[in-house]
Amino acid sequence: DWTPTSIITQAVERIRAQVGSERALAAVSGGVDSSVAAALVQRAIGDQLVAVFVDTGLLRQGEREQVETTFRKTLGANLIVVDAAETFLNALKGVTDPEQKRRIIGETFIRVFEQEARRLGTIRFLVQGTIYPDVVESSAPDRSRAQRIKTHHNVGGLPADLSFELVEPLRYLFKDEVRLVGEALGLPPALVWRQPFPGPGLAVRCLGEVTAERLARLRAADAIFTSELEHAGLLQQRPGSEGESAVAQAFAVLLPVQSVGVMGDQRTYQDVVALRAVTTQDFMTAHWARLPDDLLERIANRIVNEVDGINRVVYDITSKPPATIEWE
Ligand code: XMP
Repeated sequence: DWTPTSIITQAVERIRAQVGSERALAAVSGGVDSSVAAALVQRAIGDQLVAVFVDTGLLRQGEREQVETTFRKTLGANLIVVDAAETFLNALKGVTDPEQKRRIIGETFIRVFEQEARRLGTIRFLVQGTIYPDVVESSAPDRSRAQRIKTHHNVGGLPADLSFELVEPLRYLFKDEVRLVGEALGLPPALVWRQPFPGPGLAVRCLGEVTAERLARLRAADAIFTSELEHAGLLQQRPGSEGESAVAQAFAVLLPVQSVGVMGDQRTYQDVVALRAVTTQDFMTAHWARLPDDLLERIANRIVNEVDGINRVVYDITSKPPATIEWE
């Protein structure tokens, strides 16, 4: 019968049988699937696993540290962190079109990962966090946007001479099963139950050009927003398992416009941040979250007071459809 423990035992046996005494490489993104897949393989083959985390510079506050702590301290895994923020920023210089951002980020990710893989010498196996819905969707003719984009996290598109045999320990699991396995492996709840975060990261929440300064502004505003929601107990902890009113996804978006404000007796002309919070079951449709007025006020005050360069905060009150959850 099905328990996380029996799944883990079986997966560990299967991984050991497949990999033997060879090495395996895993790209971890901080997302649920890649983390659980890597943790399972780590359980099975220990130090024969090399986990690679590419810091794209497009992550939220504290995300890199969370991945480092989880893999190094909790799992004792062999984790390599590639600091590629500058590479990504250079590649994104002057780019404002959302789909072009996505394409560039996907390509840059593959290039950085490929370089790291070559540096590590010949490794026979590559761990992928493919889950059952990915398998089904990939064979469908009309792949969704999120699915198309996922290719960059799943490290498709590597050159032919850098070929791997795939280890896909989650191939027959659904998302909620993956989460339970992750919990049983000792991954932190914040990682296992985290809300979706797009592969292209903050780049698609930084409307207009992506620069280090604008990213820092966005990251700071986003951290204030999400931590206030968390303190208020409004962030959904376990997707699908709570009431309709819990916020399923919430984030800040930096707009490519300036607006006039006033601070003391000074006129200011600074950036605008939009807050997005939605309730949803499946992310295909979503309602804007009815957040308490006083909470919104506190968040707006904190953002304007604490984040340099932002003088106005707006709240997104469109549902999906017709709007999407993300702004790009
Ligand atoms: P939209 O904006 O289409 O988002 O309503 C639906 C869900 O998909 C996520 N999303 C993405 N995930 N790469 C991803 O991996 C992407 O390019 C991407 N775009 C949107 C979004 O965060 C939401 O959960």
